[in-house]
Amino acid sequence: MPNAYISGAGSYIPPLVFKNDEFKTKYDMDTSHEWIEQRTGIQERHFAERGVASSDLALPASQAAIKDAGLVPEDIDLIIFATLSADKAFPGSAVYLQKKLGLLDGESKKFVACLDVRNQCSGFLYSLSTAAAFIKSGQYKHVLVVGAETHSAALDFTTRGRTVATLFGDGAGAVVVSATEEDRGLRCSFLGADGRYAEELKLDLWNIAERPYVDIGNDRSGPGTVRPEILWPQMNGKVVFKNAIERMIMALMQACWDQKISHEEIDLFLFHQANKRINDYIAEQLGLPAHKVPSNIERYGNTTAATIPLLMDECKRDGRLKKGMKVACVAFGSGFTWGSAIIDW
Ligand code: ACO
Repeated sequence: MPNAYISGAGSYIPPLVFKNDEFKTKYDMDTSHEWIEQRTGIQERHFAERGVASSDLALPASQAAIKDAGLVPEDIDLIIFATLSADKAFPGSAVYLQKKLGLLDGESKKFVACLDVRNQCSGFLYSLSTAAAFIKSGQYKHVLVVGAETHSAALDFTTRGRTVATLFGDGAGAVVVSATEEDRGLRCSFLGADGRYAEELKLDLWNIAERPYVDIGNDRSGPGTVRPEILWPQMNGKVVFKNAIERMIMALMQACWDQKISHEEIDLFLFHQANKRINDYIAEQLGLPAHKVPSNIERYGNTTAATIPLLMDECKRDGRLKKGMKVACVAFGSGFTWGSAIIDW
């Protein structure tokens, strides 16, 4: 059975920087740089321009990851696209990315398989685990896994939306997962979910149980009105915070137990970047030294499915992540869903 390792990584952040104080200066939101920084660690995030979709952000990240792996797009057997801000309600974003990668151009079209994963903040780890399973089964040799988000399109920039709007940013991170006979790669992954908390962090816009599923007025002729609490994401921040800490520690420990290692033997911890206070608290509880727990939430905010591959790519490029290292990844998010993984890089 082949091993599944990460053969390449890439990322892309849209150029427009949006600083904390711009919520106040541009939208008159009742918030401040100090509040956001103290509660979350975020100083700024990047927002995509109007007209840019998640598959557009995913394209340069994917191209960079494929190049880093020493491959060309035609070598990819499967595209897995993790996102909560898909280009459209359907089809999934992976098929848009397939076309943008040029796989359908010219004479020799490559009708590579495409799969969307809708697991929010843990979407990347669910996708990585799925990619590795395909590789280990022998079905595929190279799987592109990309996490990309265009949150800025669905944030409420009024004071009503400040608890959620100030947390999120746009961006994309991608990896190529490849088959190898070398003794390295993804050693284990643990995925979990607790649907009792599904309502604690959600976007109700598409409510398929309703007729019609978006309110277009009583006579169904449209245009109707869309209530703000349906249009924008809703979050119970304190419940998310508490569960994130508990579940991330548990998932991390589960992976260590499986590998019969202590967390001291891990060289680098790539945590989902939701809130610096969550990650600092976990690091403190486990006694992890700061240099082993890199952070980039200061610059990007929470980019949901993109946080871990983005951080992975940054660490790989600046030398913090090197071949031979033992790496632990852990994420938690809406659902609630969570995941952890241990990788011998
Ligand atoms: N600026 C100013 N005031 C604000 C803001 C803001 N951006 N957001 C909320 N407040 C106000 C609240 O309205 C509240 O005011 P009130 O007391 O008059 O009602 C006050 O600040 C305190 O609000 P709390 O919700 O108690 O603040 P808390 O310390 O819990 O911090 C936060 C809120 C930052 C959202 C925190 O709960 C959190 O980080 N939770 C985790 C959420 C998260 O990470 N979500 C990401 C998605 S899931 C994932 O990726 C893990």
